[in-house]
Amino acid sequence: MFSVKSFLPRTLLGRSLMILITPILLIQVIATFVFFDRHWGKMTMRLAYSVAGETALIASEFENDPSPQQMQDIIGYASQHLDLLVGFKPGAAIEQKSSNFQPDAWKSHMAETLRGQLETSLQRPFFLAIDDDEKWIIIDVQLSEGVLSVMLPQRRLFSSSGYIFLLWMIGSSIVLLAIAILFMRNQIRPIRKLAAAAERFGKGRDVAYFKPEGAKEVRQAGESFLDMHKRIKRQIEQRTTMLAGVSHDLRTPLTRLKLQLAMLPDNKDVKEMKGDIQQMEKMIEGYLDFVRGEGDEEAQPVSLSATIDKATDAARRHGLNIESSVGRDTQLMLRSVAFERCLMNIITNAGQYGKHIWLSTQLDGKYLNIIIEDDGPGIPADQYDDVFRPFYRVDSSRNAATGGVGLGLPIAMEIVHGHGGKIWLEESNHGGLKVMIRLPV
Ligand SMILES: Nc1ncnc2c1ncn2[C@@H]1O[C@H](COP(=O)(O)OP(=O)(O)OP(=O)(O)O)[C@@H](O)[C@H]1O
Ligand SMILES: [Mg+2]
Repeated sequence: MFSVKSFLPRTLLGRSLMILITPILLIQVIATFVFFDRHWGKMTMRLAYSVAGETALIASEFENDPSPQQMQDIIGYASQHLDLLVGFKPGAAIEQKSSNFQPDAWKSHMAETLRGQLETSLQRPFFLAIDDDEKWIIIDVQLSEGVLSVMLPQRRLFSSSGYIFLLWMIGSSIVLLAIAILFMRNQIRPIRKLAAAAERFGKGRDVAYFKPEGAKEVRQAGESFLDMHKRIKRQIEQRTTMLAGVSHDLRTPLTRLKLQLAMLPDNKDVKEMKGDIQQMEKMIEGYLDFVRGEGDEEAQPVSLSATIDKATDAARRHGLNIESSVGRDTQLMLRSVAFERCLMNIITNAGQYGKHIWLSTQLDGKYLNIIIEDDGPGIPADQYDDVFRPFYRVDSSRNAATGGVGLGLPIAMEIVHGHGGKIWLEESNHGGLKVMIRLPV
């Protein structure tokens, strides 16, 4: 199914130019058509009419009085006042010379018009030729005494206003197009800048340089974008400060509790309480990690393979069995502390549930994929989304064994989103979980 949309230009510049240019072109085409069909046709007809009339007049004058004096007078008069070169060959007959001249459409139209006019005015046999190189038209007319030959320059039949009109049409269209492109480009530049700033913000980069400019509506959009940017930043800051404050304040009474418990005799209840406190400490660590992940670290260009190497080295130091294969190295804009935390969260998970970890990267057009797989039990597909919610854990009975808080994946997701990327889960060929991270490069 064809849709009109697939023929339309995709950019705003292209579309606005099309809106501007199409009606003008249409008008010009119509005007050109009307001009050539009416005006030019009529002009040629009138010019041919007068040439044919003059030729006929000369012919009949020659026949009325073929004296040399009369001929001389006519020849002189015609060349002076009519732009016609007249000659006479006594006793000759017109020969149907073949001319190798191939007239183009305009010329043949002109010749046909002239031939028609000559037929009606002359009433004698004649031969018409166009000498294209010399720009002459030759009319040979058979008279009773010989052949009258009339030569006239093509300009007597041809009005150059047609060419000039065409040139005007094309010239004005080009000038118009150039001016339109110039103006439209300036109008569209602020929109492009706004789009670029929004994209940068989406990737978690600085947009402080951005200033709203351009037409009123575009400036409004730019200002709204800046307001939104400020609001979001403030919200993140508020949340971060609050979480940091709460976690920090909770630590003190928790430490006190731990000390008090340590004084009590060891029995089952105390053991359970100690376990709970340990769990709470882990949670607070998790909150603090979460908070730190959102610190005001700036994105900086870092090498992909260096980042991956750091993460795998750390994993090996923790005794994890990890295998990494990095494709072509690239420079990435990353907040590297946060991003390493993200990788470590995922690698730690993989190490907790599996024995072997595979990490690989691949460049896919404008994206970089980082893939982390393990050979553990994996996660049921219907919980792929749930595990990204804070505190969600697949099997709470595994709680004791792994002792997680349920913040690892949510933190990882925050960080990936903060870089303008995506994170999702799949089933690994190695039997366990496959975590996919896709970052714009
Ligand atoms: N590689 C994996 N294999 C199997 N299950 C996993 C894997 N990674 C995560 N999960 C499941 O997803 C849940 C959420 O993981 P997440 O990292 O968010 O929390 P956690 O590991 O339990 O705690 P935390 O990372 O905060 O210490 C885990 O409890 C676990 O059930
Ligand atoms: Mg985890």
